[in-house]
Amino acid sequence: MPTSPAIRAYAARRFTQAVEQTMDARYAVTRNMADTALAPEALAVAAQGCEYLVVSLTEKVTAEVIAALEPTLKVICTLSVGVEHVDLEAARKAGVKVLNTPDVLSDATAEIAVLLMLGAARRAAEGARMIRDNAWHGWTPTQLLGQQLSGRRLGILGLGRIGKEVAKRAAPFGMKIHYHNRRPLPPEEALGAVYHDTSDGLLAVSDIFCIAAPSTPELKGFLNAERIARLPKDAIVVNVARGDMVDDDALIEALQSRRLFAAGLDVYRGEPNMDPRYRTLDNLFAIPHMGSATVETRDAMGFVLLDGLLALERGETPHNQLV
Ligand code: DGY
Repeated sequence: MPTSPAIRAYAARRFTQAVEQTMDARYAVTRNMADTALAPEALAVAAQGCEYLVVSLTEKVTAEVIAALEPTLKVICTLSVGVEHVDLEAARKAGVKVLNTPDVLSDATAEIAVLLMLGAARRAAEGARMIRDNAWHGWTPTQLLGQQLSGRRLGILGLGRIGKEVAKRAAPFGMKIHYHNRRPLPPEEALGAVYHDTSDGLLAVSDIFCIAAPSTPELKGFLNAERIARLPKDAIVVNVARGDMVDDDALIEALQSRRLFAAGLDVYRGEPNMDPRYRTLDNLFAIPHMGSATVETRDAMGFVLLDGLLALERGETPHNQLV
């Protein structure tokens, strides 16, 4: 596959300026200038005739989309590490390669996990609202008392690329790190974190429970009422992975009843149309899926895809090729 402006690429979203400029210099790019999330039917029409399809997590690349584009489609690039929106099996069957963006967003996402932990534990949303609403009538010894991170146990579901970066940042706060993966990591990779061979074991010791595992079919609805009941009283839940790993009814009930102290969420089931009850909770620190949202990281995500395409054009297998 030679690099050539003759290669037709369809960009389903707007990317950073540096990424768009490089893409435009290398390929004949058609771009969704409206930058709206395209439904599969619209994507299949808009991207007709492309060899490279560049999407983000907001576009579902279904078997139907792949079939509609199959006559020309060679590579699907997704500007995300998560790939649950791409039908990998359909791509494999159609001989279409799939590239994603591992590693480069781990630091930014881990920083957001720290923000969520602090925001939830220290009641940052309530404090910020008090200032914004001109409702602060002065310091009191008991105002907005939260939990401090030092001395608390952080349970990480998924000590992978992102989970490890969260652990590295949490340890200097004086937190004790615990984790659950399907298998324990070798000691040199586990960063001193305590392994639990069941998620129930992890839940039981998690003063702060952080979901950092990829969303797989087995983990859909993972944090349900039964599992929340295993968390220590007044625990905090943080999610930087995917909203569909949480049972919204159960989490909202536990926040309303104060069984949980607070939650910090970056991701939501059905986002951006999150369960509206989340907007009513004082003890929720909520931000709109910003894990990788820094200029450096979004540049790096774009360039890891563009580098992967160059590698494919040279006949090599890039490290970020999933299929
Ligand atoms: C991903 O890459 O999967 C994130 O959720 C968005 O950056």
